[in-house]
Amino acid sequence: MKTIGIESTAHTLGVGITDSDDGRKVLANVIDMYRPPQGGLHPREAANHHAENVAADIEKALGEARMSIRDMDLISFSMGPGLGPCLKTSATAARALSCRLGVPIIGTNHCIAHIEIGRAMEGCDDPALLYASGGNTQIIAFSEGKYRIFGETEDIGIGNMFDKLGRELGLGFYAGPKIEKLAAEGTELLDIPYSVKGMDVSFSGIMTAALALYRKGNKIEDIAMSVQETAFAMLTEVTERAMAHTGKDEVLLGGGVAQNMRLREMVREMAESRGAEMFVPDRKYCMDNGAMIAWLGCLMYESGVRMEIQSTAVRQRFRTDEVEVTWR
Ligand code: ATP
Ligand code: FE2
Repeated sequence: MKTIGIESTAHTLGVGITDSDDGRKVLANVIDMYRPPQGGLHPREAANHHAENVAADIEKALGEARMSIRDMDLISFSMGPGLGPCLKTSATAARALSCRLGVPIIGTNHCIAHIEIGRAMEGCDDPALLYASGGNTQIIAFSEGKYRIFGETEDIGIGNMFDKLGRELGLGFYAGPKIEKLAAEGTELLDIPYSVKGMDVSFSGIMTAALALYRKGNKIEDIAMSVQETAFAMLTEVTERAMAHTGKDEVLLGGGVAQNMRLREMVREMAESRGAEMFVPDRKYCMDNGAMIAWLGCLMYESGVRMEIQSTAVRQRFRTDEVEVTWR
């Protein structure tokens, strides 16, 4: 089944094409990121970027796959969670395509798409997912017919924490990679609050503490290293407990922050010490992308899920455990 998937939950617009009858699975994966000229992300401006570019990116993806839109058997899009104005762009494009072509439509849960593309591309079977991105930070695992959230952030996503901190430190937007570089030069571990409550984590206290250390004149490299070490240790701890609780012996990383080598190292060490295995998808499948949306849409459709246009409204707070998993 050939599926075109459109993703636009936040600042990334993605169009992917997958084919469940082709061993390669993913035939195209166009990633088009909106970068605000200055300051943070404005949902409306990001949505305008997506609306202006979605038609061209669909064409680009079809070109990559060497296919025509008429070859598509299914249209899939990201229904949520995410920012309302951004979500509406891909939903509108998907509905228009579905109506025009007379092809079925499926709205997917973005977080579940991260886990399913990891299972498809990395060959892990039943992993716990540590999903760490800008807007999301969750530990998800399959249990009793659903993907359940075993731990999550109580305030902001870890990537947003890096980006906000980066802005205050003058590093510009999308600060994660810059903080990773600075952290590698750090030498002194500073005191940063370790905030784990039960299975949940929080990051805003870390940011406040980091800014206070900056004002006191501590080296930016030490601050970056201390923030990373503390935040990643928190994530690793909660992931380990979720794995122990659910009995999973695989851990999958997902989300933009999964590109961080220090995070990978810490999770890998934890996994190895429990006799478990860590999987990290290629960068283009870690970050937000359309291929994962197409792939999940296809899994859902092939397992019997059907949707009417009327039931494709976007859901900003769409939780993973609301989805009945029919394909496993
Ligand atoms: P979502 O809608 O799923 O929350 P997103 O819009 O935040 O996703 P992603 O591409 O998944 O998009 O993640 C982007 C985040 O990842 C940004 O906050 C960025 O700073 C962070 N990031 C990227 N690379 C690194 C890195 N090497 N180390 C730490 N953080 C990183
Ligand atoms: Fe994401």
